[in-house]
Amino acid sequence: MENLLEVKNLNVDFQLEQHVIHAVRGVDLCVRPQETVVVAGESGSGKTVTALALTRILPPNARITAGEAFFDGKDLLALNERELEQVRGSKIAYCFQEPTSYLNPVYSIGEQICEAVIFHQHCSRKEAEKEAARLLEDVRIPDPRRVLASYPHQLSGGMNQRVFIAMSLACKPRLLICDEPTTALDVTIEAQILQLLKELKARHGFALLFITHNLAIAKKIAQRIYVMYQGKVVEGDETSRIFAAPRHAHTKELISAYEKIGKL
Ligand SMILES: Nc1ncnc2c1ncn2[C@@H]1O[C@H](COP(=O)(O)OP(=O)(O)O)[C@@H](O)[C@H]1O
Ligand SMILES: [Mg+2]
Repeated sequence: MENLLEVKNLNVDFQLEQHVIHAVRGVDLCVRPQETVVVAGESGSGKTVTALALTRILPPNARITAGEAFFDGKDLLALNERELEQVRGSKIAYCFQEPTSYLNPVYSIGEQICEAVIFHQHCSRKEAEKEAARLLEDVRIPDPRRVLASYPHQLSGGMNQRVFIAMSLACKPRLLICDEPTTALDVTIEAQILQLLKELKARHGFALLFITHNLAIAKKIAQRIYVMYQGKVVEGDETSRIFAAPRHAHTKELISAYEKIGKL
């Protein structure tokens, strides 16, 4: 099948005062339409930087030094700002680890979702309000009216993550990138969010690029897994094969660490 996203030889450096950090080193990966792909790896291995580079929302001291990232046939790394705007948040949406810090504390949830809906769907205020309530129902928020009138600090982390996922659906993405969306949540809420993503994916047909340091989650949700280590993809394959016959020493270590604590 044609790839929806195809990343080739991605390299990202950070320029520090005294030296350069080569954070992402020649990463290749692809995501097919409607597929769930996990990028796994220990903290600091380059997962987040890889994801941010795709839509060029990197910190100012980062530089993409080489690579291509084809999405829908266009190289995201070669687009100009205006072309990139059309892809960012409209065909590709992001969810992050700390939803609360990406939501604006001074606006109600309803105002923030409406703003996203109006931006993406070019509709009236009234239509946007209807759509906001529908989006909250879509992410299984039981009392949308109350949540629409709330402010982010009045909601739990799990609820804010649902709100953030709802907002990212406003643009009807073809690719949803989730960067450790459940790492800050407790395990029961984590299970609910993973279940929700699975349902939404089935319903809306987007592809999911899910980033996690947690191999148990990777095993549960991924069709394919890329394992990152020190800025490189050291191994990438079907999930069942990664767990049945890991090739790279780091993957073997990770798997046996999880097996030892009974988490796989
Ligand atoms: N803002 C930054 N400034 C300098 N170096 C950074 C910055 N962000 C990330 N890095 C470097 O990039 C590496 C990969 O970071 P990251 O992609 O966030 O890791 P992961 O998401 O896998 O935990 C880090 O180990 C660090 O060396
Ligand atoms: Mg990260």
